[in-house]
Amino acid sequence: MQRTVPTGLDRQETEAYLRLDPKRLPQHIAIIMDGNGRWARRRHLPRVAGHRAGVEAVRSTTETAARIHIPALTLYAFSEENWKRRPRSEVDFLMNLLCRYLKKEVPTLNKNNIRLDYIGRQHELPSIVQEKMDSAREATAQNTGMVLTLALNYSARSEIVDAVRAMITAATNNGGLDHLSVDESSISRHLYTHHLPDPDLVIRTSGEMRLSNFLLWQLAYAEIYVTPTLWPEFRGVHLLEGIGEYQKRERRYGGLVEGNGVSYQSHGA
Ligand code: FPP
Repeated sequence: MQRTVPTGLDRQETEAYLRLDPKRLPQHIAIIMDGNGRWARRRHLPRVAGHRAGVEAVRSTTETAARIHIPALTLYAFSEENWKRRPRSEVDFLMNLLCRYLKKEVPTLNKNNIRLDYIGRQHELPSIVQEKMDSAREATAQNTGMVLTLALNYSARSEIVDAVRAMITAATNNGGLDHLSVDESSISRHLYTHHLPDPDLVIRTSGEMRLSNFLLWQLAYAEIYVTPTLWPEFRGVHLLEGIGEYQKRERRYGGLVEGNGVSYQSHGA
């Protein structure tokens, strides 16, 4: 039977897409973009050249995800730790690059019906960056396709701290701490990602086996796919390969696996 292929995929992407089950696509994919510095070092270029090259990877990955109708894509662009632990000149370069991206990419986002959003402590970023972030979000607010969330000045532990604080404030404003109700769903409702499903798949580029303080609560049951590809070389076809790996996994959510009449208890995941 002839399968319909979404428009806009190139030949390699079409081949990779045809190996996927379109009914079992992840609803939310999170990506830890890593390896920009190593990509640059291998070419004897300054680290920032890797970040600049990383923008094309962001564009390709985002467009492919939107074309195959992934509802939500979240990219870890800038952690709270990046802010504190990188040279000032590199942080300034990243902020500039982000501003240029936010200005230049709006037409592409609109063309692909992508709505832009952010998670992280936006208020701690330079005010010019905040302004650009707000105007790009507004310019794409009417789009109804994929939600592209950029994690900027993001830390999962800070997110949980902010959620707990917000819950305490809400209870205090609503008659006092006797009204504080704490359970998994109330915590989820106060996270930055309260409006998104938890990611089904997290991808990390450049081979590192870490979550690096990214979406720690939300990734509890996500499938992890680590690829050696460095972020500046990552493209839509690599995203489709990651989705292919995800579709080979058996998701258990801490339950039992049936096989040849024997049930195996998985260890919590
Ligand atoms: C990690 O590579 C990457 C970052 C800290 C920044 C991510 C930024 C981009 C991909 C650029 C553009 C993004 C947007 C949204 C405009 P690294 O420097 O830690 O690499 P290394 O581990 O090889 O040193």
